[in-house]
Amino acid sequence: MTAFFSEADVVKTIAEDPSSDIVRKRTAFKDLRDRWVARSGGLFTEANDHWLKRAPAVAKRDAGRAINEIRTKLTVYLDELEKHVSFSALSGREAFDITLPSIRRPIGAEHPVIKALNEIVAVFKAMGYSVSEGPEIETDYYNFEALNFPPNHPARDTQDTLFIAGQQSKPPRDRLLLRTHTSPVQIRTMEKLAPPIRVVIPGKVHRNDAPDASHSPMFHQVEGLAVDTNITFCDLKGTLDHAMKALFGSSVRTRFQPSFFPFTEPSAEVAISCIFCDGKGCRTCKQSGWIELLGCDMVDPNVFEFVRANGYDPAKVSGFAFGMGADRIALLKYGVDDIQLFFQGDVRFLEQFA
Ligand code: PHE
Repeated sequence: MTAFFSEADVVKTIAEDPSSDIVRKRTAFKDLRDRWVARSGGLFTEANDHWLKRAPAVAKRDAGRAINEIRTKLTVYLDELEKHVSFSALSGREAFDITLPSIRRPIGAEHPVIKALNEIVAVFKAMGYSVSEGPEIETDYYNFEALNFPPNHPARDTQDTLFIAGQQSKPPRDRLLLRTHTSPVQIRTMEKLAPPIRVVIPGKVHRNDAPDASHSPMFHQVEGLAVDTNITFCDLKGTLDHAMKALFGSSVRTRFQPSFFPFTEPSAEVAISCIFCDGKGCRTCKQSGWIELLGCDMVDPNVFEFVRANGYDPAKVSGFAFGMGADRIALLKYGVDDIQLFFQGDVRFLEQFA
């Protein structure tokens, strides 16, 4: 074996000579390695060609084993030696070469839905709201029960819930599902923070909807919640009217119509005047002049009952809540006509938002 390692001077240069610079060491190391294991012209290739291939049949096994043994030892040795000449083994100034060209990575772009979420959140931040978040895998308690959806109530059916399998052994309120809206974070926030509060909650939600140009089983909402003493419907109206003008331009008008949500009382749906025809009627607004954008209204006193212990006595505080679809807003703001484009990950589509 020793014959194979008689490169003593090279080894000395590489491993022991502290004055030799790293480039010289690496060059010497590469020469040594190539001399032994280079695919063409390396000593091992030659050993294979001259010894192994030409060995008589009876000796092939022994010759092969011997060559392999040497190869294994040499590999270990070369690996060990390489540590001495690697840049990471060095410290201080010689550890990296500042003359090397830098690595350029292409800079990505903000996804249009994230962009819309950020814009919506910014509008409310400017009004003094803080930002809160919650889990996408939720319990029945937060997604429904504490939001005043009684068990087996038909209002649950409007949410097309995707349930997590195998939860039957748990009590109904602990069963897991994919949250159908960001409203559960209203409860989670009120459990953590005593009134007064003003929060917006951006996030992902899921419903068992078939995908088409305006539906996706996964989409995004921004929830809002304000609780204080003497909060009224006027505050809600002013807040949302301002927010819609900030998002879509100051000529946009808002319309509030009665609706139903178990967790607000009364309940309203808000539409904005069509931003494409200014309310005259066009294909996008289906000739109505209005585009429905969000649900909202005053927090139902029954909801406060679930967090009463944290200062939410319905006789003392009042509040409003709203929830809007961020994907829908992104479609309108950026003039995209198919929600599926947001989730296909096609760079040619996405880079237009860079
Ligand atoms: N969570 C409701 C939905 O997803 C929207 C909403 C939020 C309505 C807050 C009222 C108050 O449809």
